Amino acid sequence: MKYQRLLVTSALPYANGPVHLGHLAGAYLPADIYVRYHRLKGTEVLYICGTDEYGTTITESARKQGTTPQAIADRYHQVIREAFAGVGISFDNFSRTSRPVHTRQTQEFFLRLYEKGLLKQKTEQQLYDPQIGQFLADRQVVGTCHHCGYEKAYADQCESCGKAIDPRQLKNPRSLLSGATPEVRETTHWYFPLGEWQPQLEEWLENKSHWKPNVLNFCRNYFAEGLQDRAITRDLDWGVPVPLRGWEGKVLYVWFDAPIGYISSTIEWAEQIGQPDQWKEYWCDREGTKLVHFIGKDNIFFHALLFPAMCMAYGNYVLASEVPANEFLNLEGDKFSTSRGWAVWLHEYLQRFDPDPLRYYLTCIMPELADSDFVWRDFQERNNAELADTLGNFVQRALTFVHRYFAGQVPAAGSLREADRALLAAAATAPALLGEALERFEFKKAVRTLMDLPQAGNVYFQQQAPWEVRKTDPARCGTILNTCLQVCRTLAVVMFPFLPFAAEKLWRQLNLPGKVEEQSWDKAGEPLVPVGHPLNRPEILFPKIEDERIEAEVARLHAAAAEAAQGEEKKPMSVKPPAELISPAEFSRLDLRIARVEAAERVPGTDRLLKLKINLGEERRQIVAGLAHIYPPEEMVGKLIVVVANLQPARIRGVESQGMLLAAQEGEDIVLLIPESDIAPGAKVR
Ligand code: MF3
Ligand code: ZN
Repeated sequence: MKYQRLLVTSALPYANGPVHLGHLAGAYLPADIYVRYHRLKGTEVLYICGTDEYGTTITESARKQGTTPQAIADRYHQVIREAFAGVGISFDNFSRTSRPVHTRQTQEFFLRLYEKGLLKQKTEQQLYDPQIGQFLADRQVVGTCHHCGYEKAYADQCESCGKAIDPRQLKNPRSLLSGATPEVRETTHWYFPLGEWQPQLEEWLENKSHWKPNVLNFCRNYFAEGLQDRAITRDLDWGVPVPLRGWEGKVLYVWFDAPIGYISSTIEWAEQIGQPDQWKEYWCDREGTKLVHFIGKDNIFFHALLFPAMCMAYGNYVLASEVPANEFLNLEGDKFSTSRGWAVWLHEYLQRFDPDPLRYYLTCIMPELADSDFVWRDFQERNNAELADTLGNFVQRALTFVHRYFAGQVPAAGSLREADRALLAAAATAPALLGEALERFEFKKAVRTLMDLPQAGNVYFQQQAPWEVRKTDPARCGTILNTCLQVCRTLAVVMFPFLPFAAEKLWRQLNLPGKVEEQSWDKAGEPLVPVGHPLNRPEILFPKIEDERIEAEVARLHAAAAEAAQGEEKKPMSVKPPAELISPAEFSRLDLRIARVEAAERVPGTDRLLKLKINLGEERRQIVAGLAHIYPPEEMVGKLIVVVANLQPARIRGVESQGMLLAAQEGEDIVLLIPESDIAPGAKVR
C-alpha cells in the first residue's frame, strides 16, 4: 500500500530507572536506523517517543526511596533523554506522560469512549491491603498463576505463560507492599470491552501476514482464548485522573494512558514547530499514514491488540501498519536484571566508549527473531576486526594514499577496467539492497550488506596495489584511487543510519558540501566525487578497543552483581514464605520420583513452556514445565530429574501435564534439581 507519511514510535520507556542496552537494542536502535534511512530517502517521517511516567512501578520506587513519584520521573526523564541523545537516537519529539498535554489528550480519549457508550462500569471485588489501607494494583500482588501454576505471577499478566490473569483467581496472593494476604473489597471501575472488538481486530490482522511470527502467534493465542474486558481505571492517586464527577481518587490505568502518549507527544511536536494542527496529518489520515511501533516482545499485547482496539473505538485514529517487536537481549549469558545488578546502563556505557561501536554491535546481534547475547569480548572483536580493520581501514588507506601521492586532490579516472566496474557496481546497488532489508526490518542483514562494501573495497585495493602501479602507470593509479573515493562517498551515506557519528566524520574528511544527513539515499551509489576535489586530512574513524578496557567492563559487571547479591542477603525478604509446619506423614503424601527426560519440545506459541516425555521406570508420562527460557529443549533430553508423581493432572496451554518437576527458583533464576549421581528412573525421593 502506498502511503504519504511515516509515523514511527518507540515504546515509551518507564521513567523509573535508566535504560540499559537491552532496551536500546529492542525498541530504540532499530527505530532510529529505520527513521534515519527514511529521512535520507526523502520520506516524510516523524519519530515520536517520551517517558512513561505513571504506573505503580514508579509509585513503588518513590515509596522505597522516600520521595515523590514526580521526583523519580523528573530524574529519570533527564537521564534517559540524555543517554538517547548520546547514542544518537534521533527523536523528533521526546515528551513525558506527566505533562498537561497528555492529561488533556488522555481524558479526551476516555471521555469520547465514555460518551459513545463504549465503556462498561463494573463493581467488583478487588484486592485490598488491610495493613496499608489501600487497594492493590495488579503489579503489587504476586501469587500462583491460575493457568500454569507459575508461583511468582503478578496479578495482571503471568510472566511464565504470558496469559492475562484475573486477580481474583490468583492463588495464594501476597501483597508486595506489606507481605499481607490481600482482602477482597468492593470497588467500581470502568472497563474497556476488548472482547467486543475481537472480530474487528481479527479482520484488521488478516492482511498482516508479513508480520513477524512472534507477534502473529501471540495475537492468535489471545484470539483462540477470547479477548476479555479490561479494567481501565485504578484506585490510585498517581496517574491521569478519571475525568468524571464522582470518580475522584481514581486514575486511568497506565496502559490506557501510555500509548495515547504517542498522540500527545505528536501534538506537543506540532505545537513546538508552530503548526498546532499538523499532528492530525499523522494521526487522523488512515490512508495516508504508515504507523510503525517499535517495541520489545513484552509489549505486544498492548500494541497489537489493546491500543488498536482503543483507536478503533475512538473512531478516526490511524492503526499500526507494522509492529516489529524484538525478542530480548541477554548480557554475558544471563538476563538483564536491575535487581541482580546484571546490566549495562546506556548512560554509563557512554561515559567510557563511543556510541557508534555500540550501535554497530547491537545491530549485528539484534534479537530480531530470537533472544541474543551481548558479550563484551564480541563487542571488542567486532569493533576491532570489522569497524577498525575493515571499514575504517579501507577509508583510511584511500584517503592517506591520495594525500601522499596526489596532494590530497581527487585524481581523474581513466578508462575503467573490469575490477573498477565491479566495485562501482557494488556501490551502485548497495543503497537498494540495504533499503530492501531495512524496509523489511531485517537489520542484521542490512548491516552485513553494508559491510560487504568496505570488505570488497579492501580486496580491490589489495589486488590493484596502487602503491606498485604508481611507479609504472600513474594514470592507472589515479583511476584506482578515484574509484576508491567514490566508494568512500557511497559508504558515508549508506552507513549513516547505522553509524551516524562516523558517517559525518567521514563526510568531513571527504570535504564534501553540506552534511551527510542531507544527502539522497537513492543517489548514494552514484560516483559523485568530482575530479580535483580537495580532501581533508584523514583521522581514524574507529579506534581499536584494548583488552584492558574490556576486562574492566566485565569486572565491573561482576562487582555490581556481587554487590546486589549482598544487599539482597541483608535485606529482609519483603514476602515472607509461609512458616506453617507440616507433619512427616503429610510430607510422605508426596510421591517424589526420579525420572529420565526422553524427549523435549517447546509448547508452540509460548516462550517458557516445555513439553517433556519422561520415563518413570514403570511408566512413561508427559509433563509441562516453564523452563524453556533457561533450559532449551535439547539440553533437557537425557537429564535425570525429580518429579511429583502423584499430582493431579492439569492442562497447561491446552497441553496435558501429568506431574511436576522440581526446580529451585530465586528471582528470575531457575535451577533444575537433579540427582547427584546416576540412579534408575522411578527411584523414590524422600
Ligand atoms: N513503559 C512501557 C515499557 O517499558 C512501554 C510503554 S509503550 C506505550 O514496557 F505504548 F504504552 F507507550
Ligand atoms: Zn501462567
